[in-house]
Amino acid sequence: MKREPIILSIETSCDETAAAVTLGRQILSNVVWSQIAIHRPWGGVVPSLAKRAHQEHIDEVVNTAIKPVNWQKIDAVAVTAGPGLAIALEVGIKKAKEIAEKYKKPLIAVDHMEGHLLSSLAKNFKFHPANGGANFKLEFPALGLLVSGGHTELVLVKEIGQYQILGQTLDDAAGEAFDKVAKMLGLGYPGGPIISQLAEGGDEAKFDLPVPMVRSQSLNFSFSGLKTACLYKLKEIPHKRRDEQFIKDFAASFQSALVQSIVLKLKKAIERYHPQQVLLGGGVINNLALLQQIKQVARQYQVSVLVPYSKKLLTDNAAMIGVAAYYKFKRKEFVKNINKLDRKPNLSLEEYLFL
Ligand code: KG4
Ligand code: ZN
Repeated sequence: MKREPIILSIETSCDETAAAVTLGRQILSNVVWSQIAIHRPWGGVVPSLAKRAHQEHIDEVVNTAIKPVNWQKIDAVAVTAGPGLAIALEVGIKKAKEIAEKYKKPLIAVDHMEGHLLSSLAKNFKFHPANGGANFKLEFPALGLLVSGGHTELVLVKEIGQYQILGQTLDDAAGEAFDKVAKMLGLGYPGGPIISQLAEGGDEAKFDLPVPMVRSQSLNFSFSGLKTACLYKLKEIPHKRRDEQFIKDFAASFQSALVQSIVLKLKKAIERYHPQQVLLGGGVINNLALLQQIKQVARQYQVSVLVPYSKKLLTDNAAMIGVAAYYKFKRKEFVKNINKLDRKPNLSLEEYLFL
């Protein structure tokens, strides 16, 4: 094949119904139907509602994504196999199998976290300057820092496809902690963007909250202690005394403790593993305080940082699945028996997903 492969990717692991078409690492379309409004009244993702919404929207999302090309031009179909909500993953897998069989295309199973990990390698129609333009080269070992609503992970990238998880959360993910603390403060869902905006006008030194895992040598994360500390602190202050400035100060103090703990682990991982580059992914990277501190650490250690070129690539989307699928396509890692491909809700990046 003279040109790079064209891949249709489908992602339904959580609460976004998504499909994308990529040409190599270049994004031709990236369609996301967000279910946030459906889950908002419940303050979190309700799996049965997610499944139904995926079923209702998957066809229109895929049909919109395919528009820049046509079915025959596609070289492969890719789909998120896990990790994620089992009944949500199922919807995307079923659709991908149908398309692969109907148009006789190979199928590629992708790990959702590999999508987040490689999301910064996606290109738009121009070369993304942060990716070094046409001469961009990923250097190994690289270090992935993935911070999302479902996961918080530090990953050593020995090569693309060869990963070692250096640390992960022992309880809540960072995004989940943002969402839960927002709930305690009576703010909306998802809480991350709301807290980060409020924090801009707040004083982070106002409340003394513990920085999680500050003394631990491990590279794991834990946010439940911080969450409980927030709960107790809030119990001391009656609702009528919580004015706008109070909420801003509390948001800033919480955000600061959480960011410090992530940055601390990042520093430790850089000191231990000497990566050439840091790859960032996941919705919480939208948090400017976090991103600024990560960049500062990277400068200090003279490591380059790769961030996806658009915010849309940080939260769940199918274009990042397409980028991961592109490398699998090059390695010819296709699903051998389409009928056997099943959802893998607890898939880990260290597992070799080649079925
Ligand atoms: O990556 P993502 O779509 O979720 C998973 O794949 O799990 O990220 C969603 C998470 C939510 O928890 C949301 O609150 C958080 O990312 N988030 C933020 C910000 N924007 C989104 N957290 C903190 N600051 C933000 N600006
Ligand atoms: Zn995700």
